[in-house]
Amino acid sequence: MVDVILGLQWGDEGKGKIVDYFAKDYDVVARFQGGPNAGHTLYVQDKKVVLHQIPSGVFQENKLNLIGNGVVLDPVTLKKECDIVAGFGVNLKKNLFIAERTHLILPTHRALDKAAELSKGHQKIGSTLKGIAPTYMDKTGRNGLRVGDLLDKNFTTAYIKLRLKHQKLLDNFSFNEDISAWEEEFFDALEFLKQLNIVNGEYYINHQLQAGKKILAEGAQGSMLDIDFGTFPFVTSSNTISAGVCSGLGVAPQKIRDVIGVTKAYCTRVGGGPFPTELENEVGEELRKIGNEFGATTGRARRCGWIDLVALQFACMINGVTKIVMTKADVLDAFKELQICTGYKINGKECNEIPFRLDRVQVEAIYKTFSGWNTATGSAKSFKELPVTMKTYVEFINQYLGVKIHYISNGPGREQIIAI
Ligand code: GDP
Ligand code: IMO
Ligand code: MG
Repeated sequence: MVDVILGLQWGDEGKGKIVDYFAKDYDVVARFQGGPNAGHTLYVQDKKVVLHQIPSGVFQENKLNLIGNGVVLDPVTLKKECDIVAGFGVNLKKNLFIAERTHLILPTHRALDKAAELSKGHQKIGSTLKGIAPTYMDKTGRNGLRVGDLLDKNFTTAYIKLRLKHQKLLDNFSFNEDISAWEEEFFDALEFLKQLNIVNGEYYINHQLQAGKKILAEGAQGSMLDIDFGTFPFVTSSNTISAGVCSGLGVAPQKIRDVIGVTKAYCTRVGGGPFPTELENEVGEELRKIGNEFGATTGRARRCGWIDLVALQFACMINGVTKIVMTKADVLDAFKELQICTGYKINGKECNEIPFRLDRVQVEAIYKTFSGWNTATGSAKSFKELPVTMKTYVEFINQYLGVKIHYISNGPGREQIIAI
């Protein structure tokens, strides 16, 4: 049986913390898409750790962690991260597995990402510049190199061939930064990667399933950044939604049980693109300050706004969400009044569906106003301790979405989570 935890907004919903919390109930935690563009924050022994490539179950004892074929892997980031994780006494030789079909991010992919973004000027996506789009382009273009290729004696020849191809593209962009230092650390990291457990991921996961083991699939980014259903072209390059689990791990759809969607009690977005409920005022500034809304991967300030039920309902539909976890409820503690977006006004007409190109229309968010709870909730341990006004807020969201919030996260700490 496979359960999925994924983001319902534009990323950074708190997936890392939630996966870490739930991992104790599973045998295997697996990443199925995305790459080091992800930044998943968790607290281990009261120390903050940000994971980019390794699944967030890695700190729970006796769990197996799989980097699935749908992921794009930067060996350099992985090596650095393995060093950090091993520093906590985790034995990665025993509990980290990497699918041989996983595509490798090459130094030239990172260079191409940078060159492509620069060429877009003010239309840029706001990519994390980790080489994500060029690597997925080489995957769908059938040119990419995969982890399993590392074990082939012709790997270097294949690398040089692809590098030459990339160089031509870089020349077209007039990109002439020296990336030899990147290449040096890349080859160094490849040697490290070869020492890890490289497996046939699809057999690995299906054998676990046959043995009755429980799998938790960990999403990266968010549903509104999905390559097909997100706010294209301001999206990432993978299927971030639940369907991505099947192709990103090699599991059949009927093996998926719960799809647990994570949403903040408000909304953020980092990078370019449309964001109907964005607050470009002092309220947005306060959300950023209290919520510490700065990117875990790039450090960029996140754009902040009210929760958007049009986008959330869309995400619940596309993913088949069965349970919702609402994070960062405590961030709203300080607000006297809260707003929930219940619809959009597009060209003077009210609607509650995501249009084809959200970036090409003038959207005005329609809000319903709620009283804030205006009390500290970070130390609450049970639902009954939570203020009535918070319960009203939660109940309204449940009713609108037709899917229930099952957990409320009321602080970044590992145990700050309340089951409803
Ligand atoms: P992810 O990418 O979805 O894993 O989320 P990030 O780690 O990028 O961003 C979430 C941030 O919110 C991190 O700094 C977390 O430590 C923090 N966080 C998670 N849950 C809560 C919560 O309930 N309350 C507060 N105040 N912070 C939280
Ligand atoms: P986690 O897993 C938030 C955004 C980037 C940019 C767009 C494309 O931590 O939630 P890319 O590097 O993929 O080409 O960037 O997607 N983005 C994220 N935003 N959280 C993430 O991951 C993100 N990963 C990518 O800011 O707008
Ligand atoms: Mg993040």
